[in-house]
Amino acid sequence: MKISRDELKDLMKNKLLSAGLKESDAEIASQILVYSDSRGWHSHGAVRVEYYSERIFKGGINTNPNIEFTQTGPCSGMVEGENGLGFTIAKFGMEKAIDLAKENGVAIVGMKHMSHSGSIGYYTEMARDQGLIGISMCQSDPMAVPYGGSQPYYGTNPIAISAPSKYGESMMFDMATTVQAWGKVLDKKSKGQSIPSDWAVDEEGRPTTDPHQVNALVPIAGPKGYGLMMMVDILSGLLLGVPFGAGVSSMYQDLSKGRDLGQLHIVIDPERFVGAEKFKEDMSTSLRELNEIAPAPGFDQVYYPGQRGKLREEKSNKEGIEIPDEIIEYLKSDKIHFDRYDGKNRFAE
Ligand code: NAI
Repeated sequence: MKISRDELKDLMKNKLLSAGLKESDAEIASQILVYSDSRGWHSHGAVRVEYYSERIFKGGINTNPNIEFTQTGPCSGMVEGENGLGFTIAKFGMEKAIDLAKENGVAIVGMKHMSHSGSIGYYTEMARDQGLIGISMCQSDPMAVPYGGSQPYYGTNPIAISAPSKYGESMMFDMATTVQAWGKVLDKKSKGQSIPSDWAVDEEGRPTTDPHQVNALVPIAGPKGYGLMMMVDILSGLLLGVPFGAGVSSMYQDLSKGRDLGQLHIVIDPERFVGAEKFKEDMSTSLRELNEIAPAPGFDQVYYPGQRGKLREEKSNKEGIEIPDEIIEYLKSDKIHFDRYDGKNRFAE
């Protein structure tokens, strides 16, 4: 059903409050979740509220952490999250990175011991809205084979970047490093459809088109995506001293325990390089040039990353957001969760 952005946000906020989050955390989480739904990233919106609620209710997200920032050098810092809400920790880390970059030109801030932080492009846009370049990356639970392997090792380890421009264009690139999100495999399975052969592999590491045989996802562009996943794990895992590789906690392993995840933000002030105004002007030129490239057959136009999401957001703000009925029913119900996620084997689902 179609629902207005504000109503959806309020419903999610109320559910997260009833699960045990404090007001400020529920506000941040619902803001970022509705951002994802409005941009068309439904895999990271309202569909996740029941999972978060179950984890909060069972104690796997610390609702009263002492989130602390330590500046470790002129341009570097670490946030200790005490396994509090990932959204709040990632937002706090970006606020600190923005302050440091404004002061010293660049900033690298690591966040450790946190829970899932949703669509990470959101945090890069916080930097962009201050005239800075924002980059973010984070770990996620192991579900992708390393190139040539048969067992999962890395997560879908996303990377995002956003840069300011003269006319406020919404450039923001944000992607998982797997060919497809796990949610898309589940969707095909529920519809009894096959999947393209380049999405996933079976138990022996062979490409499969049968969603029931999937044992792991595959990196984008073979060894190149594998390398990007590794880069994310090095910078947001090993560098920060949290579990890495196959040691990263699973989303559903034990919902009473903190996930101990890591995330890294990098913020760059263009003023310290080419100059802020020149950079913004050139960004707008570059985005316009991309839009002017003649489309290939079958395409209506060349978009820059983030452009279509922004158009979807504008439409959502006017016309409402399409959310499955059962999700709205759950959000409106008195039920905090249905005990559906704890101990679930996502591949056997
Ligand atoms: P996607 O495949 O929908 O989009 C990837 C990128 O390609 C986006 O920047 C989009 O703007 C761009 N794009 C798509 N179509 C385009 C076109 N026609 N022209 C130009 N650019 C285009 O994103 P994906 O990989 O499915 O990720 C979805 C979300 O999931 C992201 O927000 C990501 O941060 C989040 N995620 C979060 C994880 C976590 O653990 N926190 C793990 C994995 C993903």
